[in-house]
Amino acid sequence: MCGIIGYSGERPAGPILLEGLGRLEYRGYDSAGIALFDEQHRLYCARATGKLEQLTSRIEGVLPPAVAGIGHTRWATHGRPSEANAHPHLDPTGRVAVVHNGIIENFAALRERFTARGASFASETDTEVLAHLVAEALDEGADLAEALRVTLAETEGAYSVVVIATDDPGRLVAARAGNAGGLVIGHGEGEQFVASDLAALLPYSRRVTFLNPGEIADIRREGVTLTDADGAVVERAPQLQPYDPVAAVKGRYRHFMLKEIHEQPDVALDTMRGRYLQDPPRVELDDGSPIAAAQARELQRAVLVGMGTSQYAAMIGRHYIERFARLPAEVDNASEFGYRRPVLDPRTLVVSVAQSGETVDTLLAMEEARREGCPQLTVCNTPGSQATRIADGVIHTRAGPEIAVASTKTMTASVIALHAMALHLGRLRGSLDPEVECAEIEAAMRLPAVLGEALLLEERMAAVARRYAQFEDFLFLGRGLSYPVALEGALKLKEVSYIHAEGYAAGEMKHGPIALIDERLATLAIATRDEVRDKMRSNIEQVKARRGPVIALVSEGDDSLDGIADEVIAVPAFEGALAPVVALVPLQLLAYHIALERGADIDQPRNLAKTVTVE
Ligand code: M6R
Repeated sequence: MCGIIGYSGERPAGPILLEGLGRLEYRGYDSAGIALFDEQHRLYCARATGKLEQLTSRIEGVLPPAVAGIGHTRWATHGRPSEANAHPHLDPTGRVAVVHNGIIENFAALRERFTARGASFASETDTEVLAHLVAEALDEGADLAEALRVTLAETEGAYSVVVIATDDPGRLVAARAGNAGGLVIGHGEGEQFVASDLAALLPYSRRVTFLNPGEIADIRREGVTLTDADGAVVERAPQLQPYDPVAAVKGRYRHFMLKEIHEQPDVALDTMRGRYLQDPPRVELDDGSPIAAAQARELQRAVLVGMGTSQYAAMIGRHYIERFARLPAEVDNASEFGYRRPVLDPRTLVVSVAQSGETVDTLLAMEEARREGCPQLTVCNTPGSQATRIADGVIHTRAGPEIAVASTKTMTASVIALHAMALHLGRLRGSLDPEVECAEIEAAMRLPAVLGEALLLEERMAAVARRYAQFEDFLFLGRGLSYPVALEGALKLKEVSYIHAEGYAAGEMKHGPIALIDERLATLAIATRDEVRDKMRSNIEQVKARRGPVIALVSEGDDSLDGIADEVIAVPAFEGALAPVVALVPLQLLAYHIALERGADIDQPRNLAKTVTVE
């Protein structure tokens, strides 16, 4: 969702804020703005609609020297994208400026309260009431941190906020309310940073503190004081982040999405490192398993939750849990989880999958599971995120920062982490055949190299993309482990190229979607060599019989679809349950190259945001 950055220190704040916003722009990009103190300690505020470059060109040469300020890049929730609705928002006297991410549920009532007293509002946003509330508390004599605490108490909803005020130039106060919209503090020498995610802080500091819900950070250049909702000081040592800032830049690639697709061999290695052991062959969760052997044997079922790409990874994880741990498993779309009164108990293992660890739907499902006393594991790419704090145990995916809005490398990492988790659980439950474990480990060791081979398909996929870029409808079909891959292939294509694409279980095709098939609907069929390959071949024949063009993914060496499918893409052969991640690579490349052909905004597709912190 929206990106937030704040700085207090001795260096010029403006360039730091703008650079931070550049790193956060993937979170939202319909408008941007900054607020800082000028030399007379007056608030200077600039906002512009559109991408960050609009703001940058507007303030070039007129940015006042300042040593503290806040910035924001917006993904609209309340109020259309416009300059008036862009953040920061000020109170009517220009004393307070706020940037905010998330939703204030009772904003209408609060707004009403102020307008009844004659106050005016400059925007349609929910955010603006925060500026009014903070200013009101300051008027009543509160200091800035206390004013924010009062504000938090008056508002309902899950959000994060950073505030500056003319009362105390150089000071920022930041808070996280509820489970949406994380904030992280970056600690430097004589300077401090705050941002809605780590990527914006990494060039400046690797010593960071993630705010918990209800906490307020009082940020001055000399240091940061954390307090809880009651005002009690919270002592928490900063964590040292392992991420390499270089990993967050695009390097030689034209887009982050392409860079991240190409990182997958390394990501696979990093996710497996220290977990897939060969002598003797076994899988260990080095993060420490919160599931003791006895508890693992007591488990009666597993429920996996996630959203979007993470949900599709969870669908593959379900196969693994059933296959290796012999535990009945089901997958839930996290946003639907709470609507069904799911039957949960302490013998239900809940496994959440999340790149950001801040997706509000996933966090709400996790909280529901926590209330029911379920043991919980999370497969997560963001150390310190809220998901990692709710879960009893974390399997870090170690994919590094993912900047492109479209997830690629983190799906691969999540699937590998789920594979490791299921094998580990299988051994604890005594349900894993040691020969199967051994074969899976051996296959996994080959995975980074095989992913490297799959990337060599790029030119071929670019050529296919040129032929299919003008299609407006795609069907992606797969069976078994390839079904979630088909769903993900369709999601990638629609996200980055805006082409209508549907993923289906291939067996379902005859039950409706077949009515759509004609020469204008392209079908992508995943027919790599596994136990369902022959059935996939029948589906392909059915599409061809209706004049539908077919792109088929087959395993290298399989010529059975030559002359039948219009395009036959040979994917490097891979034996083992991790095969779906190999098939993902050509689908990611196809989506990328079709989007490139269509001139789409690949790293920042319209309407999307990287981390969805609203329901
Ligand atoms: O951070 P999360 O994994 O919880 O995000 C869930 C989805 O929003 C995410 O997977 C989304 O579908 C992808 N960015 C799509 O590429």
